[in-house]
Amino acid sequence: PWSEARAREVINEFAHLEGPLMPMLHGIQETFGHVPEEVVPMLAETLNQSRAEIHGVITFYHDFRHEPAGRHVLKLCRAEACQAAGGDALAAHAEDRLGCKLGETTADGRVTVEPIYCLGLCATAPSAMLDGRIVARLTERRLEALITEAQS
Ligand code: FES
Repeated sequence: PWSEARAREVINEFAHLEGPLMPMLHGIQETFGHVPEEVVPMLAETLNQSRAEIHGVITFYHDFRHEPAGRHVLKLCRAEACQAAGGDALAAHAEDRLGCKLGETTADGRVTVEPIYCLGLCATAPSAMLDGRIVARLTERRLEALITEAQS
C-alpha cells in the first residue's frame, strides 16, 4: 500500500546519485508495484524540476506503470522484428481474448497485458514474456496457452 514515508525513504536512498530520477522511479515501482501519482510532486520538489518534467519522464518510458498490475503480467513484444513476424495479429488476439487493451488490466484484476519494445530475441520472433518467463516463436496457439495459464 501507498506510504508517503516509504516513498520518501526510497527517494532519499538515491538522492546522492548523479542522475537520480530513473533509479528513484525504478525504486518506487519496485516498492509499490507502480509509480503512484503522489510521487510526482515529491520528486519535483526533491529534484528541483517541474511536475510536468517528471510526468514526461514517467510517461516516456514504457517500463513505468501508472496503476498496480494484475496478478500476472503478460508482455508482448511490439518492436519491429516481432511486428514483421505477425505481432500485430497476436496483440489483437490477446486484446480480444482478455477484453482489454495493451497497457491495461483485465476487469477481474488477474492479467495485465503490456507492450514491450524488443526483448533481444528478434531471431526467434515473435516474442512474449509471462511473469518474467520469456517465450519465443509465439504462435496463436502458444499465446492461447499463455492466456489460459495467466487466467487460472
Ligand atoms: Fe521483438 Fe526484438 S523485436 S524481440
